[in-house]
Amino acid sequence: MKLRIEHVDKIEGKINISGSKNAALPLMACSILTDEKIVLNNIPDISDIRDMSMILEKIGVNVTYHKEKSQMCLQKKELLINLNIEEMAKIRASYYLMGALVANKTDFLAYYPGGCNFSKRPIDYHIEAFKKIGYNISEKDNVLSFSYKMPKAKKIIIVIPKKSVGTTINILLASSKSMVTTIIKNASIEPEVLQVIKLLKKMGSRIIIKDNQIIIRERNKLHGTRFKIMADRIEAGSYMLLATAVDNAKVCLNNVDSENLKEVISVVKNMGVSVDVKKDKVKLLKNKKVYPVDVKIEPYPSFPTDLQPILSVVCTKACGISIIEDTIYPERISHIEEITKAGGSIKSINNKIIISTSTLKGNSFYAHDLRCGFACIILSLIATGESSIDGAEYIFRGYENLIDKLRHIGISIEKDLK
Ligand code: EPU
Repeated sequence: MKLRIEHVDKIEGKINISGSKNAALPLMACSILTDEKIVLNNIPDISDIRDMSMILEKIGVNVTYHKEKSQMCLQKKELLINLNIEEMAKIRASYYLMGALVANKTDFLAYYPGGCNFSKRPIDYHIEAFKKIGYNISEKDNVLSFSYKMPKAKKIIIVIPKKSVGTTINILLASSKSMVTTIIKNASIEPEVLQVIKLLKKMGSRIIIKDNQIIIRERNKLHGTRFKIMADRIEAGSYMLLATAVDNAKVCLNNVDSENLKEVISVVKNMGVSVDVKKDKVKLLKNKKVYPVDVKIEPYPSFPTDLQPILSVVCTKACGISIIEDTIYPERISHIEEITKAGGSIKSINNKIIISTSTLKGNSFYAHDLRCGFACIILSLIATGESSIDGAEYIFRGYENLIDKLRHIGISIEKDLK
């Protein structure tokens, strides 16, 4: 799919922020942990969620989505446990099905997850954790074979080598209805992980967070419940950065969880934007020059790695040299090729991205992945003339009503299905 976008000097209007993609995906997998119904509110209508619904349906969960209410009801039926390769390859979050099936203590086959491959994205921490929880896991021709063996210990301690959102959530899913206590050391305590803990506790799990540790106590049965998903902090941050990049911006973001965005708000302010936060509204006013920044990306509450490609583009507008160091995914640099295509001055040296003031010209860009795709949207808006973005289907994996939201603030964008 191709998008055509025109340069813009001024944007004005309101944008409603949708529910969080990266919280919603593991919350949907929680439906496998109970025989009762799970009702999730504020679910975004994006392709990653549709893919996850389809996979859950195929393995035996009844999923109904009410678009007008952004509500999803999930009810487990009889599980067909072997995970199919095409389905697992569609999205990264398909690995949460492994954690949920491990909780059920059954044997099953699985494949490696797909999704945005902006970097090497191993799942070795997940596999090691499942082994500690009580599984023999072998691999042949890319097929992972899981077979359950009863753990002997009454307490399982898992130390995650490097903070990992997916591994932490998978251990939570796998251990939330276990008859042994599980302790996760060096756990990732990101807002999306806290959402999973909140839902699991509502379902009956006994989970305690202590510093960087999560303790999951014995519990043999979980029940159904209702849950409202938090706002997507990456979507909100993406629009904040878009407002920072355009010469004149007066934008109000509604339904924002600003508590989760402190570092992003601070960076945007340092770049010269006036930001006014009132309850769930964030008003952004930008009409002067953009200042350069020096940002080191680490786990939450640091600036999020998902916004790194998007921030990189905005830095081409800054009146000086900006430096970004992404310690989580240093290889996430596909956007550099696109910025360079537009004439931007950007390079990656020793895991640091260095960006200088640039004059950008419209071109044909390529969305190598979801966040690179949003970066290309900003690139097209600040470059002269008209630009196009190929591979745009990636962007729709994670941004709900993207075209309407952009048009609503005065952006000229067309979908070209040719
Ligand atoms: N890592 C390993 N081995 C593992 C797991 C992780 O080496 O088994 C490393 C990774 O290579 C990385 C670091 O640990 O260097 C952290 O990765 P993490 O596991 O936290 O990433 P993830 O859980 O696979 C989620 C989001 C990503 C987001 C990262 C970091 C989902 C579905 N994905 O990925 O979101 O970038 O956390 O915050 O929740 C996106 O939304 O565009 C996206 C890619």
